[in-house]
Amino acid sequence: MKKIIGVFVFMIVLVFVIIYFYPKDNSITYAKDIAPIIYKNCTPCHRLGAQAPFLLQTYNDVVRRGKLIAHVVDSRIMPPWPADPDYSHFVGEKFLSKKEIELIKNWVEAGMPAGDLESMPEAPKFPDNSKLGKPDLVLQMPEPFLVKGKNMDQFYLMKIPFEIPCDTFVKTIEFIPGSKKLFTM
Ligand code: HEC
Repeated sequence: MKKIIGVFVFMIVLVFVIIYFYPKDNSITYAKDIAPIIYKNCTPCHRLGAQAPFLLQTYNDVVRRGKLIAHVVDSRIMPPWPADPDYSHFVGEKFLSKKEIELIKNWVEAGMPAGDLESMPEAPKFPDNSKLGKPDLVLQMPEPFLVKGKNMDQFYLMKIPFEIPCDTFVKTIEFIPGSKKLFTM
């Protein structure tokens, strides 16, 4: 009986040892770890037809600027998000957690391995114009307004004339610029 218990204990210990020392694949890859972060936080602006000056849609797009990307996310230049996340959060906000920033930095340092690109989540699709479908009301500025490039954020207050007949709850507002290009004058 003692022998059987001994063998039993030995086997349990063996199972734990195997689980503990079994090589785990902890390596950070584009397909598994980085693509979901880029798709959610960068591609909405860094895609064809949007405002950012280059694409971050494919693995090659991201690798081409890997070092710069590590720098801009670490210094929180990108994604541009001036709201204070310690105070409040917004639906659809583009803000990277410390863990996500570390993942990107470590991945760049590890030589930006692709991983299994076949198993990568599908790239997000974006509509050409409004993201909301057909809006109830479309307002246009009476005249075009030229934003003069100063290489800095600029904030304007403008009133677009309109009347709605009664108090109305607004669910969503979307701004669509007539031109997405910035001109330096
Ligand atoms: C709200 C739109 C928007 C989002 C979201 C966004 N970007 Fe950008 N990005 C821009 C624009 C516009 C520029 C060019 C103007 C500038 O440099 O500020 C830019 C510039 C850059 C640059 C070049 C910076 C330089 O100094 O040359 C890098 C790199 C970059 N983005 C990476 C990213 C990454 C990585 C993400 C996601 C983590 C991201 N961006 C998210 C709009 C965006």
